[in-house]
Amino acid sequence: MEYQFAKRMSNVKASAIREILKATADPNMISFAGGNPSAEAFPVKEIEKISADLLKNEPISILQYGITEGDQELLREATKFFNRYEQVTKDGDQMIITSGSQQIMEFAAKTLCNEGDVVICENPSFLGALNAFKSLGAVLRGIEYKDGQLDLEDLKQALSMEPRPKFMYLIPNFQNPTGMTMSLEVRKEVLALAKEYGVLILEDNPYGDLRFAGEAVPSIKSMDEDSLVIYAASLSKIIAPGMRIACCIAPQAIIQKMTVAKQASDVHSNLWAQKVMARYLHDYDMDAHIDRISMIYKKKCHLMVDEMKKHFHPSIQYTIPTGGMFIWVTLPESIDMLTFVKKALEKNVAVVPGNAFLDDDSKECHSFRMNYSTPTDEKIIEGVQILGELTYEMSKISS
Ligand SMILES: Cc1ncc(COP(=O)(O)O)c(C=O)c1O
Repeated sequence: MEYQFAKRMSNVKASAIREILKATADPNMISFAGGNPSAEAFPVKEIEKISADLLKNEPISILQYGITEGDQELLREATKFFNRYEQVTKDGDQMIITSGSQQIMEFAAKTLCNEGDVVICENPSFLGALNAFKSLGAVLRGIEYKDGQLDLEDLKQALSMEPRPKFMYLIPNFQNPTGMTMSLEVRKEVLALAKEYGVLILEDNPYGDLRFAGEAVPSIKSMDEDSLVIYAASLSKIIAPGMRIACCIAPQAIIQKMTVAKQASDVHSNLWAQKVMARYLHDYDMDAHIDRISMIYKKKCHLMVDEMKKHFHPSIQYTIPTGGMFIWVTLPESIDMLTFVKKALEKNVAVVPGNAFLDDDSKECHSFRMNYSTPTDEKIIEGVQILGELTYEMSKISS
């Protein structure tokens, strides 16, 4: 049988990261390719206690069907939590609980885009979101970086096209894959441009709480007085991605459309996980938990950067994160990035080739992404040394 698949899936490839992660199942592989929380970062005992209590005392409340928008207790707790330092819920906004923030990306494209509509994204950007947009028929228009910030001239050009793009997808804090943070000035400019051109912003903020240096920058959502921002807040990176709990905060009309999309998709997010999450947010000191895990990432990040300073050829450039989970490494033009990544894999070290994160992955790219949250300290030391040797080996060949 030759299967006839839908056209909209024709330019969506299996995620390069998922494919590399398959190779990392090999116990000998040192993986800097993932983006998972550290094994030390999970509040296992607390989740175990809440789960046991719920199953013993109110099992039907977690085993029954729930409502699409989300469990009332979780909606209340999540609203308190995400608004604790800045007001992200604006007048006329509503919240929906989703199955991870990946589902928010899908619903944004599903509810806003027709086949061929343009979605603006950073170039590079989070592959899972790009694939969700493409699978729903959207066309990506990547905006390049200039001097470490989004190129606003390029953005203006993209925004002025006719018909207008449907929305811009932005990750302002500790971006995936670059680890970079958008400055306050650029956030303000981006919001002003959204207003000027009448284009929505989908602001994705799964890493904002994982700051271990410097001052927090206000979210674009907190500055929006014109109902222009759809805000994606996830609990995956700060509590547990396996629970698949995220929240979308957006103008009511958008959430109502997303609610219909969710009814057609998975009816509601796992009620069991929602109730556990609600209790966790209510019963425990989230900021103390976040401080603890941010310190784990700070230590791991410093270790990786220190090892890179020691072992990498001086021609290699990389970002030095102040939060989040990723380092973006750029090779000199004389070294072919894909060959480098392939050779690294042969030496049992996995990183993600940077072109996987571009609006068009056939574009030339000299960068790759490294993750420091998942590997153990020993693996960080061993893996960076292997990559370092490879940077010298390949610099020699290319010179
Ligand atoms: C920028 C970004 N957004 C969204 C997600 C999806 O996270 P989740 O669906 O677990 O909330 C990820 C996961 O890696 C991510 O890096």
